[in-house]
Amino acid sequence: MTDTAFDEKEKDQEELSAPQYQGVQSPQGMHDVLPVDQPYWARLRAVLEKEAAVFGFERIETPIMERYEVFEKGTGAVTDIVEKEMYTLVTRGNETLALRPEGTPGVVRAYLQHGMTSLPRPVKLWYFGPMFRHDRPQKGRYRQFHQFGLESLNSASAANDVEIIIMIGRILKKLGIKGVVFHLSSLGDPACRPAYEKQLKAHLRAHKSKLCLDCKKRLEKRPLRIFDCKEEKCQRVARVAPKMLDNLCKDCHRHFKEVLEMLDEIEVSYQLDSAIVRGLDYYTRTVFEVIVGGEAGEGALAVGGGGRYDGLIEVLGGRPTPAVGVAMGVERMIEVMRLQKAVVPVTAFRPDVFLAQLGFLAKKKSLKLMTELMNSGVAAAAALDRDSLKAQLKIADRYKVPFTIIIGQKEVLEDSAIIREMQGGTQEVTPRRKLIDVIKKKIQLFKEKQ
Ligand code: HAM
Repeated sequence: MTDTAFDEKEKDQEELSAPQYQGVQSPQGMHDVLPVDQPYWARLRAVLEKEAAVFGFERIETPIMERYEVFEKGTGAVTDIVEKEMYTLVTRGNETLALRPEGTPGVVRAYLQHGMTSLPRPVKLWYFGPMFRHDRPQKGRYRQFHQFGLESLNSASAANDVEIIIMIGRILKKLGIKGVVFHLSSLGDPACRPAYEKQLKAHLRAHKSKLCLDCKKRLEKRPLRIFDCKEEKCQRVARVAPKMLDNLCKDCHRHFKEVLEMLDEIEVSYQLDSAIVRGLDYYTRTVFEVIVGGEAGEGALAVGGGGRYDGLIEVLGGRPTPAVGVAMGVERMIEVMRLQKAVVPVTAFRPDVFLAQLGFLAKKKSLKLMTELMNSGVAAAAALDRDSLKAQLKIADRYKVPFTIIIGQKEVLEDSAIIREMQGGTQEVTPRRKLIDVIKKKIQLFKEKQ
């Protein structure tokens, strides 16, 4: 099927989906991935799997639920994700579990639980799967969404940060996504961030009356979130606030400088952005967001985000181990692919032959014949719920098959079948025992002439 034909199919689907159906709908913010969406998903998976293999990342799948404390400790108890957005449940066995809002803490838990700490470093893992956040649904923000993630564990070098950025750049390029900019910053580490946060808090306290209610509340525990706030009055205060990038300690400064120098070597477009603070607790040093659609602000979409989390493995019970990773929002990437009209290969069912039948006996014979055809490598289609020959031939036309096999009552009695050549309309009767060979030859000849 061509891309045009695919567009038409998409149009049909849209027309169909102005439904009269008033019954139970999917849960709010959770979506079906329909057959018409599958070519995008298939393309994405194929590109991800190939790139992950090229860069030596191995697949890991963790459960979609974890014990609550994995996220409480990992993502952070006072983050919006854990405090406000997590789906939690108490099991019959009285365990508190949570549907994963992100993949990183579960991957770290598995890394520790399965002794991967003793593997040669870095341990490079990737995953793909659904995540759940009970946020207010809107375009690009769902309650069930999918992430593709890369985690490079036990990796301290700035080169590991850059490797992840290079991979994401390549993946997006292969998917036909244009206008990608990496917004980059450094959040320092326990040696320099506390002193910086003290400075920032002092600045925010001095301007407290100008802040929105949320920022006033977050001032003491999460002062950095001021940089995330969309309120204009808070942004004004944030613009003149001291910046982490100007307050990095020597080691963090060196690490970040190395990242930038390596990025300068390659063709990745990045922008320093001290407003990148990320909504999760575990980040240290490099943090970044993958933005499509111009300047951050109007129309810009974060298709991914990540950074270094040198403290997380220790928080979850391991030895201090540096790590860096990223997660990409699959639905958002697909949205951009659609918007930018990225070409996706469509593999549609293209039968070689259509099987038409008339009467109950013929229908029974057709089912057997269909299996035989498929067993001998002939892709066959039929419309076994239709009885009229005219209706069946119309469907055969739609499939654009070169031949239709017709079995009526007479053919059942004579143990034969009619082969109709669809373009010219000529028909010939063939004994049933020779049918498979004859049709196979005809199909082969037809294909050779194409
Ligand atoms: P995150 O920034 O929370 O990072 O999510 C990564 C990406 O997932 C976002 O940039 C966005 O594209 C997508 N995303 C997040 N929430 C939603 C939503 N509600 N609906 C649709 N898409 C969404 C993380 O999750 C970290 N675990 C990334 C990471 C990996 N850091 C280190 N390793």
